[in-house]
Amino acid sequence: MTGLRGTPERLDAFISAMPKVELHLHLEGTLEPEMLLRLAERNRVEVGFADVHALRAAYRFSDLRSFLDLYYRGTEVLVTEQDFFELTLTYLERADAMAIRHAEVFFDPQSHTRRGVPFGAVLEGVRAALDEGERRLGVTSRLIMCFLRDLGPEAAAATFAEAGPYLDVIDGIGLDSAEVGYPPALFQETFEAARANGLHAVAHAGEEGPPAYIEQALDLLKVERIDHGVRCLEDPRLVGRLARDRIPLTVCPLSNVRLGVVPSLEQHALRRMLAAGLCVTVNSDDPAYFGGYLTENFLAVRRALDLSFNDIRTLAADSYSAAFIDESRRRRLLAEFDEAASGYTLDHP
Ligand code: HPA
Ligand code: ZN
Repeated sequence: MTGLRGTPERLDAFISAMPKVELHLHLEGTLEPEMLLRLAERNRVEVGFADVHALRAAYRFSDLRSFLDLYYRGTEVLVTEQDFFELTLTYLERADAMAIRHAEVFFDPQSHTRRGVPFGAVLEGVRAALDEGERRLGVTSRLIMCFLRDLGPEAAAATFAEAGPYLDVIDGIGLDSAEVGYPPALFQETFEAARANGLHAVAHAGEEGPPAYIEQALDLLKVERIDHGVRCLEDPRLVGRLARDRIPLTVCPLSNVRLGVVPSLEQHALRRMLAAGLCVTVNSDDPAYFGGYLTENFLAVRRALDLSFNDIRTLAADSYSAAFIDESRRRRLLAEFDEAASGYTLDHP
């Protein structure tokens, strides 16, 4: 496969069809306004927005904090196990429709347990949907429990203890929410305990926080991937280390623009990250809030940065290699990718 030649439209059609892996997606960030209002009514939760238009109009963010305030308000409509089941299954159905073959999804238990929702209701609803997604749609998944860093290390430790009975159905832990002022170093103990239990470890770092937070996540939390990580480019020594050690970075282009992490998609660091030999992947973060799911993120960066077929292949292959899956599944995804690419070339001589 030398590459798909031809028009950008052909490449876009291929991007839509190619087998995809999503590695940075917050389930609560897939809560579309329509579902949010439906659940608000069902659970009799007052959300303060009259209709879908009023909600969408509020989706203008100046930074991470302004987004998180609305995002956590949105989570208040999620109350019962059935709500978590529907939220998760709706995402998986969308994922299947856009050729996502494997998704490693985050959930934020503290945003629910602090409102009195039982940990088990969240976990069992999400888990049942992930199992059904694999059984019915063939979309495989991993479940990553994130700690809200701005609630502090004691709350993270308590949440990990609460998860004790469910550790066999949780694949990894992560760290999210307001970054600046909450360095990874604070969470060393809980990450150590999780790794001792055989869980994978990832952390948001270098989204709004400095490159030093990325180093802390690697050195102290011993994470296997960095979520976002775009600010690594400010430290060439760190870039060298990330490239040498093939540490995957789960980049979320539309999120970065919406939260003001980058001034525009045209100025996004993704192309420079690829050029630096980093293991970068494209992801959607909170698609209901940021104007696009995984396919839209790929299409947007393809256009804004004029990416080639080979760039797209590198991004896809990086996502397969960064996923917590075994070698045979990785090889199968690559084979599916090449099959889709060759099929597409044949269909469009
Ligand atoms: N960053 C930090 N926390 C989050 C995000 C994000 O992009 N999305 C949901 N929680
Ligand atoms: Zn995120």
